[in-house]
Amino acid sequence: MTQFSIKRYLPRSLYGRAALILLVPIITIQLVVSFAFIQRLYEDVTVQMTQNMVPQLELLLDAVPNGEGALSEAADTLQLGANLPAEALKERVRFYDLSGRAVRDTLQSSFPALTGVDLVENRKVVRLAFDTPQGMMQVSFPRSRVSARNPHQLLVLMLATGALMTLIAYLFLRNQLKPIRRLATAAEAFGKGQIVPYHPSGANEVRSAGGAFLNMRSRIERQTQQRTLMLSGVSHDLRTPLTRLKLGLSMQPQDADTDALLGDVGEMENLISAFLDFARADATEELEPCDPADLVREVAANAQRAGQAVTLGTMPEEPGEMKLRPMAIKRALENLAGNATRYGTNARLSVEVLETAVRIRVEDDGPGIPDDKREEALKPFARLDAARNQNKGSGVGLGLAIAADIARSHGGTLRLGESEALGGLCVDLVLPR
Ligand SMILES: Nc1ncnc2c1ncn2[C@@H]1O[C@H](COP(=O)(O)OP(=O)(O)OP(=O)(O)O)[C@@H](O)[C@H]1O
Ligand SMILES: [Mg+2]
Repeated sequence: MTQFSIKRYLPRSLYGRAALILLVPIITIQLVVSFAFIQRLYEDVTVQMTQNMVPQLELLLDAVPNGEGALSEAADTLQLGANLPAEALKERVRFYDLSGRAVRDTLQSSFPALTGVDLVENRKVVRLAFDTPQGMMQVSFPRSRVSARNPHQLLVLMLATGALMTLIAYLFLRNQLKPIRRLATAAEAFGKGQIVPYHPSGANEVRSAGGAFLNMRSRIERQTQQRTLMLSGVSHDLRTPLTRLKLGLSMQPQDADTDALLGDVGEMENLISAFLDFARADATEELEPCDPADLVREVAANAQRAGQAVTLGTMPEEPGEMKLRPMAIKRALENLAGNATRYGTNARLSVEVLETAVRIRVEDDGPGIPDDKREEALKPFARLDAARNQNKGSGVGLGLAIAADIARSHGGTLRLGESEALGGLCVDLVLPR
């Protein structure tokens, strides 16, 4: 619990954490040293200097009974200001004036006749009031005679060097952190299907992580290319004989057999175009700014035109553009809406703009997918038994896989759940903004 709450207040970025690691020790050292310095050294020195004043003040007080002449002579010799008779003084010492408090305490413990100490009226002068048999006497002398001059110089110096050192350390640290940030950016972009230029740099560990990332990236890229090439090659090459087959079949006298065969050929063509779609899913369509709500409206309108019961749910009131691959997103939504009307009857599309993401939701009133089958349904070529048994058309099992792929290439996710409103499947396509 405590660990959790501490974590919440720690900075999340590497920079913030590094700055904290840097600043906390420096500030702590400065606080401890300043405290010790003020407490020990500064106060002790003040007490000592004040104690040196005590005999001088005693001499002055001794001269009081000997008349005005003796008093002023003693005051001149001791270089003190003395007034008799004078007004009484209130005790005024600022609470943060630590050395002033030490002066007051030392003098009060040495002179029972001391009735007032004023260190406030003039910061550079100590004014004292003594109750003598001859009346109230005021004595004044420079503050520099009882406390060290400019004690804050050390503190200022310490703070200034501390700040300077922190700044220099931060600049160096930033150079060390930059390569890590660049690696993170490159990895993040690659996760979204973008290749940004990257060269390993920085400390050895970062460099080797960067090299490993580059190797991994090129291997994945090669594999993707091979997959795309193979799938599109096979599909393409199959098309020519299929076309010939179709042509040949349509030349035959038409009967029930040829109709069935033609149906099979049509189904194969559908499968092949699904393969091609899958292979193309991460083909390089450029990101461009567009409004996801517009795409959703377009998909819904197309589906309605095709006679499917697709409606729009809640839509954002204001248009909001974000960087997307519009064709890919539309393909994903078409797949999801197609599933919804194939396995259910009514489909509903809605868009919600969240703080960091946009959520496109596709709901239906079909049987849904049980919790433990959802992961499987997302895999390529996965068709659940229910769909097979119901004989729901000639699916390949690629629709959800393609949609998930497209979500991933935008840095987002595809989540399957249960629709509260319609009771069937609820698919959330979440795209980060
Ligand atoms: N809206 C839904 N309601 C119930 N089950 C679904 C729904 N959408 C998908 N499924 C199940 O998940 C499986 C995988 O779906 P997916 O879209 O990937 O393939 P498909 O629809 O069978 O074929 P394809 O979309 O490639 O033509 C489906 O076979 C079906 O069993
Ligand atoms: Mg499908």
